[in-house]
Amino acid sequence: DPTTFRIDTGTTSVTCGSGQRVLDALLRQGVWIPNSCNQGTCGTCKVRVTGGMVDAPPAPDTVLSDSERDQGYVLSCQSTPTTDIVVEPPADESGAHHHALRDLAGTVSSLTTVADDTVSVTVSLDDPFEFTAGQYVELSIPGTDQTRPYSMANPPSESGTLEFHIRRQPDGLATDGWIFDSLTVGSSVSMTGPWGDFCHREDEPGVGLILLAGGTGLAPLKSIARAALEADPEREIHVYHGVRTETELYDVDFWRALATEHPNVRYTPCLSRQQWCGRAGYVGDAMMADFGSCRNHAAYLCGPPAMVEAGVRALKRRRMPPRRIRREKYTPAT
Ligand code: FAD
Ligand code: FES
Repeated sequence: DPTTFRIDTGTTSVTCGSGQRVLDALLRQGVWIPNSCNQGTCGTCKVRVTGGMVDAPPAPDTVLSDSERDQGYVLSCQSTPTTDIVVEPPADESGAHHHALRDLAGTVSSLTTVADDTVSVTVSLDDPFEFTAGQYVELSIPGTDQTRPYSMANPPSESGTLEFHIRRQPDGLATDGWIFDSLTVGSSVSMTGPWGDFCHREDEPGVGLILLAGGTGLAPLKSIARAALEADPEREIHVYHGVRTETELYDVDFWRALATEHPNVRYTPCLSRQQWCGRAGYVGDAMMADFGSCRNHAAYLCGPPAMVEAGVRALKRRRMPPRRIRREKYTPAT
């Protein structure tokens, strides 16, 4: 087929259709490449092209530097081959088991408003689906060629029905224009997944977890907390959920029940723009007030970019080793 190219990785060779992105082709055929945003904004998916030609749109210097470009690096999530190519995938030091990317179809089985401008949506899948807690799928927006990423909030053990937490973005194509408009129980949903390397890792099983969430960044952390507790019900887990006002808080009963059931789970909602009976301020500041040192903990952070960056700074100030700080930013699509 003249419109199909080969991608040679040194150890294997996969096919790539015309217009298909290098990252998509590799992940679908079981070659793991670290990736996070799949939209050209994070730089996680860099691979070096050592032979052949790709069509690679310009990327900001902060994502791909001039010197990286000179050495042949491209963002694999944005690049399409125009000839057969040879790539050097980065060595995988994670030791994790990765799941191949695939297309998925399902039906909305519930859609509930859980807070101001926030819905919880469940989708029953036609076929079972394997992913790691923390990962996401890309939902196809009907009538467009666009997709948007949304994280699973359910643990992988309950993979027949996916749970999502979705916040409305004013004038947003996926949210205002579809999910908060016409999506209802019974609607069909098409998606691809699993994506992302924000993954629950049991590399240090006894280590206490600090989970810092902003808004619907709570979704992958719920999946991670539930997966960690399935493995060890006594696991020490500190969940901080930051929102602006009490009307934006959701899943409060879920987390309170979890903390009652598991002796070492602590749940701390934080409001940044309202005084109330609970904690005020940002999640990173609340965490710093509670911990003198985070040297012996691991962290997962998810939410708006500024919240994640502030949380990482707070954890470093409390001496958490950088390799134990895992993060995902809900960067808007460009
Ligand atoms: P768009 O049409 O993309 O945006 C409309 C306008 O609003 C644009 O001008 C855009 O730049 C601006 N805009 C969009 N988002 C923001 C923002 N956050 N802050 C400021 N301006 C903005 N969201 C969830 O609610 N739940 C999730 O589980 C979730 N998981 C994600 C996982 C990943 C890896 C990433 C990268 C993002 C995730 N998001 C999640 C964000 C989500 O994918 C969409 O970006 C969001 O729902 C807005 O999409 P939209 O099509 O409605 O808005
Ligand atoms: Fe490709 Fe983020 S830039 S995954």
